[in-house]
Amino acid sequence: MICLGIEATAHTFGIGICDDKGNVLANERDMYKPKTGWGIIPMDAGKHHLEVAPKILEQALKTAKLTMDDINLISYSRGPGLPPCLYKGKDFAIETAKKYKKPLVGVNHCVSHIEIGRQTTGLKNPVVVYVSGANTQIISFSEGKYRIFGECMDIGVGNALDKFGRAMGLDFPQAPEIEQIALKGKWVDLPYVVKGMDLSFSGILTSCIQKREKGESLENLCYSIQETFFSMLTEVTERALAHLGKSEVLLTGGVAANKRLQQMLKTMAKERGGKFEVVPRDLSGDQGAMIAWNGIIAYKSEQKMNPDKADVDSRWRTDDVEISWIS
Ligand code: ATP
Ligand code: FE2
Repeated sequence: MICLGIEATAHTFGIGICDDKGNVLANERDMYKPKTGWGIIPMDAGKHHLEVAPKILEQALKTAKLTMDDINLISYSRGPGLPPCLYKGKDFAIETAKKYKKPLVGVNHCVSHIEIGRQTTGLKNPVVVYVSGANTQIISFSEGKYRIFGECMDIGVGNALDKFGRAMGLDFPQAPEIEQIALKGKWVDLPYVVKGMDLSFSGILTSCIQKREKGESLENLCYSIQETFFSMLTEVTERALAHLGKSEVLLTGGVAANKRLQQMLKTMAKERGGKFEVVPRDLSGDQGAMIAWNGIIAYKSEQKMNPDKADVDSRWRTDDVEISWIS
C-alpha cells in the first residue's frame, strides 16, 4: 500500500509519499516565510499553501517515480493548527481524493510526529518528548491513547525561542540560529519555571529580552535560554520515566533538531540505564511523510473517512486521538 500525505497545519505545505513498510519515497515541501520582524500571518500562510500545492504534488510524484495510479490512499493533517492553513490542506486533500477516486483519512499532526519517530527509531514504548513551535508535550502511551504527562502552560518551546530571536532581529525560523549563536555564550542567571509536570516559557522569554535591553550579550542569552528551557524539559522527562517505570526516550518535533537538547536528554537517559533516540533531521520538522505514514497505520486499523464529511479540528489534542493501531 502506498499513501500520499498532505501537511498544512502552519508554515509548511508538504506532500510525502510512504509505503506500508515505512519507506519514505518522497517528501517535498515549501515553507511560508513571514517578512523580517513578523510572526506567521495565518491568512498569508494559507494563501501560500494554495499557491504551491499543485507544484509540490507534481514534485512528490516525480521524486517517487510514481503516478496517481500507484497511490492507494490519501491522508491529511486534520489538526491541530492554524485554521486558514488547515482548511487549504483539507480542501486540497478532498479535491485530490475525489479526482483520482482514492480513499481519504484525516490524521492528528502531533500523533504523526510521534509515529514517524517510533517508526524510524524502532522504539516501541517510549516517553516521547514532543517539542515544536506550538507544542511542547511529554507523552506516553497508556490504555488506547497517548497520554500527556507534562506540557507547556503558555507558548511552546520553539515559539518561545523564535520570539526571542525575533526580538533580537533574527529571521524566521530563529531557533536554529540561536543554537549556533549559543555555542559562543556563557551562563547568566534566568528564572526556571516548572510547576509539577508543566512548563512555562513566556516569563523566561520576557526576562531575556529585558536583560538584553540592559546590555547583556546576545551570545550569553542564547546560551542561557537554551540551557534553561532544555533543563526544564529534561527534568520533567526524567520524572515521567521514573513514575511510569519506562526507560526509553524519543525526541520528536521541529525542536528535536537541536543538538544541545539531544545531548541533555541522552545524558539523562544513559545515566538511568535507559535508551535515547531522536527522529532523523529531515523528518523532525513539519512534512508530509509523517502524515503519509500515520495515514497508512490509521487506515489499516479501519480508520476511514467520507470525503464529503472530511473536516478540520484546529484544537485537536494529542490525548483525544483514538490510537486504534496499538493494542
Ligand atoms: P506543531 O504543530 O507540531 O507545533 P510547528 O508548526 O511548530 O508544528 P515544526 O516544524 O514541527 O512546526 O517545528 C518548528 C519549530 O522547530 C520552530 O519553532 C523552529 O524554530 C524549531 N526548530 C527548528 N530547528 C531548530 C533547532 N535547531 N533548534 C531549536 N529549535 C528548532
Ligand atoms: Fe509540527
